[in-house]
Amino acid sequence: MTSTPPLRLDNVTKSFGGLTAVSDVTLSVHEGERSVILGPNGAGKTTLFHCITGTLPITSGTIQIFGKNVNRMTPNARTRLGVGRTFQITNLFAELTLLQNVVLAVHGRARGARRLFTSWQSERHVVDQAHAELDRVGLCGKADLDVSELSYGERRQLELALALVGGPRLLLLDEPCAGLSQSERQAFTGLIRAIPSNVTTIIVEHDMDVAFAIADRLIVMNQGALICDGPPEEVRNTTEVQEVYLGDA
Ligand SMILES: Nc1ncnc2c1ncn2[C@@H]1O[C@H](COP(=O)(O)OP(=O)(O)O)[C@@H](O)[C@H]1O
Ligand SMILES: [Mg+2]
Repeated sequence: MTSTPPLRLDNVTKSFGGLTAVSDVTLSVHEGERSVILGPNGAGKTTLFHCITGTLPITSGTIQIFGKNVNRMTPNARTRLGVGRTFQITNLFAELTLLQNVVLAVHGRARGARRLFTSWQSERHVVDQAHAELDRVGLCGKADLDVSELSYGERRQLELALALVGGPRLLLLDEPCAGLSQSERQAFTGLIRAIPSNVTTIIVEHDMDVAFAIADRLIVMNQGALICDGPPEEVRNTTEVQEVYLGDA
């Protein structure tokens, strides 16, 4: 028996007026797979993520998440199916502490009446969970600092912690290492590799060293279309990829 793919796209297109940002993309990812999407600026990578999370409606095609057609589902409904993400632009409450940011995210994930009848017990549970999430990304010692006191690299670590709150089963990371120094990149690569192996992860990443350290699979986009998809070593050596990257540099 083959298991239901966490994500399946069939002929997905997203146009903005006359501009086709995502063009007829068909792809299926397997459970636990670590895919890295490469491609020059403007290739449509972020738009593709917005289509998957439901931030943007698609123009045509079908998106299935864990076997469910999500074309008409809101972003929140997709989150409940298990989709987690980080944003290319950071999205944190700078005036709150790290712990408060994570507690808010945990509360945001708790559903329905539970939120209205929060006892001390469940409050304690939320705080413990928030500490565990911070620990996972190496920020436990900074739980009580304001986010505004963090370095840029630490903010990105915190964002990863937030994305992991609620145990996503399909995680989308959009350029998690953008703007990081070489040593921060290495550290962050370690955090990505430490994401539980049952979490299917798709990462947009420009840095080839990071991409090769993480990827089971490389997917290359250019001008909205998938131009290459396969095992990293195979993809690296294709002429299309060499051309796109030589052209971009
Ligand atoms: N909201 C939008 N409205 C109009 N055009 C957009 C919008 N978002 C992205 N685009 C365009 O779509 C193309 C793909 O952008 P994007 O998905 O951000 O690429 P990438 O993340 O690969 O750099 C670009 O030409 C961009 O200008
Ligand atoms: Mg982008």
